[in-house]
Amino acid sequence: MATAQAKTAAEYLPARRTLPALTAAVQFCRGCDLYAHATQAVFGEGPASARVVMIGEVPGDREDLQGHPFVGPAGRILDRALAEAGIERSDVYVTNAVKHFKFEPRGKRRIHKKPNAAEIRACRPWLEAECFAVHPEVIVCLGATAAQSILGPKYRLTQEHGNFVEHPWAPHVTSTIHPSAILRAPDEDRRHAQYRELVEDLAKVRAVLRAS
Ligand code: URA
Ligand code: SF4
Repeated sequence: MATAQAKTAAEYLPARRTLPALTAAVQFCRGCDLYAHATQAVFGEGPASARVVMIGEVPGDREDLQGHPFVGPAGRILDRALAEAGIERSDVYVTNAVKHFKFEPRGKRRIHKKPNAAEIRACRPWLEAECFAVHPEVIVCLGATAAQSILGPKYRLTQEHGNFVEHPWAPHVTSTIHPSAILRAPDEDRRHAQYRELVEDLAKVRAVLRAS
């Protein structure tokens, strides 16, 4: 008896998996239901020669409207932390675990919602294809959703962040706090501590790049 296969993005991937071909094809993905309410798919961006791939969760409101990853408030924190850690922006390709904005309408606003396990799994073929196309030395999971997608549901980011593991997609994979978590910090002290943690973890990424 055939088992029902969960829907995924796999059948929407193009035969040629260059970044431009993937970027064009993702707009036609129907691998899960998130495409239906989003403005567009937001694919990763950055040079194909990037040494680092950074994976966020899902595009936010601004990213959905503009069509580019990390162009909103979380992106500003990430850019600042990268600069402080001494990582060149030209060494970085940024993307998300899930490519279509997930939200709940609340009046005129659209409130970000966390993608569920099925959506993360459905979107993973895009992430895998772009990681293979970029072929980075280091992959950085920003937050638990990215870590869940590539390191599995048992991975504990709070304990493991800043450590490096080997992975089929890159020789060094690590994780750190999501910049949006810093924006949501309950007070200034927490916010400062979390930001320092992000910069420290990124400094370790820089050390790995220097050594290789
Ligand atoms: N948060 C994410 O995870 N990704 C973005 O692109 C923007 C905000
Ligand atoms: Fe496809 Fe991912 Fe968009 Fe779902 S979120 S439709 S799997 S690109």
